[in-house]
Amino acid sequence: MKDTLLLALGGLIRKEISAGQLLQHIVDVMAEFMDADRGTIYLLDEACCELVSVAGHLPEIGEIRVPTSQGVAGFVARSGRVVNLPFCEDDHRFWPSVDNLTGYTTRTMLAGPLHNGAGKLIGVVQLLNKRDGIFSEADQRNFAILSEQAAALLEETTLGVSASPLATTAPTAAPGEPEAHSLNIGEGFNRIVGRGEAMREVFRTIGRVAPMEATVLLRGESGTGKGLIARALHHNSGRKAGPFIQVDCTTLPEGLMENELFGHERGAYTGAHTRMPGKVEAASTGTLFLDEIGDLPLTLQGKLLTLLQEHSYCPVGSARRLQADIRIVTATNRELERLVDEGRFREDLYYRLRVVQIELPALRGRGRDDLIHLINHFVTKASRRHSRPVVPVRPDALSMLLEYHWPGNVRELENCIESAVIFSDLEISPSTLSLPRPDATRKVRALSTHEQAHQPTSSSAPEPVDFGRQPTLREIEARYIQYLLELYEGNRSACARALDIGRNTLLRKMKDYELE
Ligand SMILES: Nc1ncnc2c1ncn2[C@@H]1O[C@H](COP(=O)(O)OP(=O)(O)OP(=O)(O)O)[C@@H](O)[C@H]1O
Ligand SMILES: [Mg+2]
Repeated sequence: MKDTLLLALGGLIRKEISAGQLLQHIVDVMAEFMDADRGTIYLLDEACCELVSVAGHLPEIGEIRVPTSQGVAGFVARSGRVVNLPFCEDDHRFWPSVDNLTGYTTRTMLAGPLHNGAGKLIGVVQLLNKRDGIFSEADQRNFAILSEQAAALLEETTLGVSASPLATTAPTAAPGEPEAHSLNIGEGFNRIVGRGEAMREVFRTIGRVAPMEATVLLRGESGTGKGLIARALHHNSGRKAGPFIQVDCTTLPEGLMENELFGHERGAYTGAHTRMPGKVEAASTGTLFLDEIGDLPLTLQGKLLTLLQEHSYCPVGSARRLQADIRIVTATNRELERLVDEGRFREDLYYRLRVVQIELPALRGRGRDDLIHLINHFVTKASRRHSRPVVPVRPDALSMLLEYHWPGNVRELENCIESAVIFSDLEISPSTLSLPRPDATRKVRALSTHEQAHQPTSSSAPEPVDFGRQPTLREIEARYIQYLLELYEGNRSACARALDIGRNTLLRKMKDYELE
């Protein structure tokens, strides 16, 4: 029994799945291990002293609410003990109302509490009807271990199901303000932190469109979590057992990209000795995530449109069309409308892609509460990764983090916190935060005509270069990129944003111009 659930379900805590799905997996596995016919997980609704069924095998009705004063589940909630009922009908704690509602007959039952890390009751798990005979004492012991593992598993997620106190001492609400409520079950996704209205709107949309086959376009500045959301769409879809394949549309030149996506036939070109499947085939039965879609070459845009409309494609060098069994998710941080106006992005493809789009809010627009939760999340994550104790964020450091405008969004925050964790001993203080000094930011703000999001972080802008003659366009571009890189102290995301190009396009240009 040691770590049984963790072994069976541990992989799930690295996936962006919803609370509902995770709880269902837990109860499925528990029932299977214990050879039970059915199971139910109830969570405690403290406000009305009821246990609410949130996952289980309840084909007859949607939800059961049991008052904590009633039934076996109520007894477990009050006593905190595991119980084994070999003959339910003879036990005074058994509450037959649920069976009366469902028409199902419960003969035998195991029920146990779910406690969070602080020892607080969060819910109750029940297994019904051992398939063969009654649950033994050994079964009861094993069930108790599994219940503890289930609670530990919930605590490992960011879902807030276990409503565990956050690990740092940074307050999540200012004194006097009400604490933010944890998410409603089913609304959030593991590993995606966000409780404010902006992110909840995103969660609701994911919840709605993930199970559908619709193509989704993810939009938002660099570092806002588009990659995470793409995975959430996959892991919460009917295709979750299939592969999730990501293709970055910026990295390869046109010819190679076609090969990458669609594969080639044997003999398609010199050196093509064998047939090679492309990413469309690799993603079969799963999801194909096309990142930086704004950078897809025009010729391939036409082929992608056909793929979307007809679900078929032609490998390079093949006369045969193949059927594609994929769901496509795309992402971009570029203004597609402008690319369409400039003739660099096909209008028909644009309209096809934007049928379902999810706009990820910039970090600075998510509110103080979300920022604090993200800070706590990254402190814990980085401390774990580097085997460091979780240290508190000093109030003055927290103020700096809350005031900064985060041009690189969540990625920039994550990096900032990770380096602070590495360089802190007892607490995270302002000196361990790699943020621009406020006076430096002010100086640059005066220089820059960009909006806040585009503020460079360097305190002294580099000198413009005098070429001494009329420079070529390439020379100007190379020099301007170098200028911005110096201005933004090497922050490539900020630099790419100022240039209004994708980060990968910037990296390609830097390689091309041999810039560091
Ligand atoms: N809401 C969130 N909760 C927790 N971590 C997040 C969240 N959003 C983003 N991250 C983390 O921030 C980093 C950047 O996210 P991601 O790569 O998904 O951004 P992106 O929008 O795809 O950026 P780009 O446009 O540059 O590709 C990742 O490490 C991701 O795990
Ligand atoms: Mg990305």
